[in-house]
Amino acid sequence: MSNENEENITLSARLEWQALRAHYETVRDLDMKLLFKDDLGRKTDFTLKHEGIEFDYSKNKITSQTLELLFNFARAQGLEERREQLFSGANLNVSEHRPALHSALRGSCSPKLDIDDSNIKNYVDRSLEKIESFTKEFHAKKRFTDIVHIGIGGSDFGPHLVCEALKHLSVRGVKVHFLSNIDPDHFADTMEGLTPKKTLFIIASKSFSTQETRQNAKSARSWLAAKIKEKDIAGHFCAVTSNKGAAIEFGVKPESIFDMADWVGGRFSLWSAAGLPIALYLGFDNFKALLEGAHSADLHFQNSPLERNIPVIMGLIGLWYRNFWNYNAHCILPYSSRLCLLTTYIQQLDMESNGKSVNIFAQPVNYATAPIVFGGTGTNAQHTFFQLLHQGRDVIPADFIALRQAVMPLGNHHEKLISHVVGQTKALMEGRTNKEEPHKHFAGNRPTNTVWLDSLTPHSLGLLLAFYEHKIFVQGTLWQINSFDQYGVELGKDLARLALSKIKNS
Ligand code: F6P
Repeated sequence: MSNENEENITLSARLEWQALRAHYETVRDLDMKLLFKDDLGRKTDFTLKHEGIEFDYSKNKITSQTLELLFNFARAQGLEERREQLFSGANLNVSEHRPALHSALRGSCSPKLDIDDSNIKNYVDRSLEKIESFTKEFHAKKRFTDIVHIGIGGSDFGPHLVCEALKHLSVRGVKVHFLSNIDPDHFADTMEGLTPKKTLFIIASKSFSTQETRQNAKSARSWLAAKIKEKDIAGHFCAVTSNKGAAIEFGVKPESIFDMADWVGGRFSLWSAAGLPIALYLGFDNFKALLEGAHSADLHFQNSPLERNIPVIMGLIGLWYRNFWNYNAHCILPYSSRLCLLTTYIQQLDMESNGKSVNIFAQPVNYATAPIVFGGTGTNAQHTFFQLLHQGRDVIPADFIALRQAVMPLGNHHEKLISHVVGQTKALMEGRTNKEEPHKHFAGNRPTNTVWLDSLTPHSLGLLLAFYEHKIFVQGTLWQINSFDQYGVELGKDLARLALSKIKNS
């Protein structure tokens, strides 16, 4: 089941892992405050920049030696080779016998790469041309004012996040709505106020068999049928899927079907035609700019040495905490309302990819894998769970993601918002001693990364999302798990099907 050059060595048997374990014993009592005091260049040395993104990892329980040992471990685990295999289309998704080529969708693959006798670059170019011409016609004809995107999980989170994040760039007169949950209330709330004649539905489902999406699409059809002629209904639907037959059977015209290749996993699909609502809502050029941002992240990940590589360092620090410090959660904190959906997006990306207990050799693993990812938007999260981050018994590493420039500046709001990023990360690291009143004591020494975006643009968002994708790939590689399948979601679905037949018959 594994890749042929893969070595089946348990992590603890690796000398480089043992070196990290021994190193942990020597640094477990380190105080981050003192690291800063002893090394005035720490912030500069532990900050990396790539285009409009700055990654500050100085507030972590790491020294230069920690990083060196982590890089040694990553090299011993074959991270560099594996990274090459990712981009060259090797069958890294071993359980489903296919590559994970989402990066090809943003132009990051060799023009010579063929899969099953089909040239990947040509396929991507053709898909983009189809999205572009559909988008241009959509804007020129102005037939529709509202797009309802029906999809769930990976067929929803990415496009939804991008449309929300960049709504200041939306095309005049176009609104987009996202329908995912099978809950009838979600349907009712989404459709409220929409005019059937003016509404276009996109059904996004790689499998075209996901119950929630199929049911919502059926109800959308009935909603249209109540108001428009049967012969006009098909003109209100398009589909994004790898199951063309099922989409046609549903009633979508073949020319309105956009392909989703089977080498693109659901949670990595926003770069594919699943991003159609992004192009329609924000314009094709902005969709292209998003892809270019992600492409730039691919080049950085692919070509930078491990020591200067943002997603590699993100991944290694996460592994350091998960496996050596036994921290079992990771917090994602976008300090931007526009990035309010980022936490959910990264939750799926991380936990669906790496929430596994079996390795690529089909053996159970005896070390921790994906952390519990949670979070919320700053500053609201400060009034929700920051009490626990500061004074709870668990140490939870957190990523603060912030914009240097506000999207919609207003007086001194943004300065105040940013002051919380600086203040909170400092408070988590420095703590505050209070021996007289223990309830007011802050132990500090709680790690954070800070990711600064110069501004929120399609390019910077593309960079950010692709960096997180690669971070998770790095961790999956080092843990020797397949980050590209998700069998863990199947059992619950099966049992719900059985429960449904019982509920129907009761
Ligand atoms: O949650 C499981 C999952 O398979 C995701 O990986 C995927 O993004 C989602 O369901 C939707 O699947 P589909 O696009 O096939 O409807």
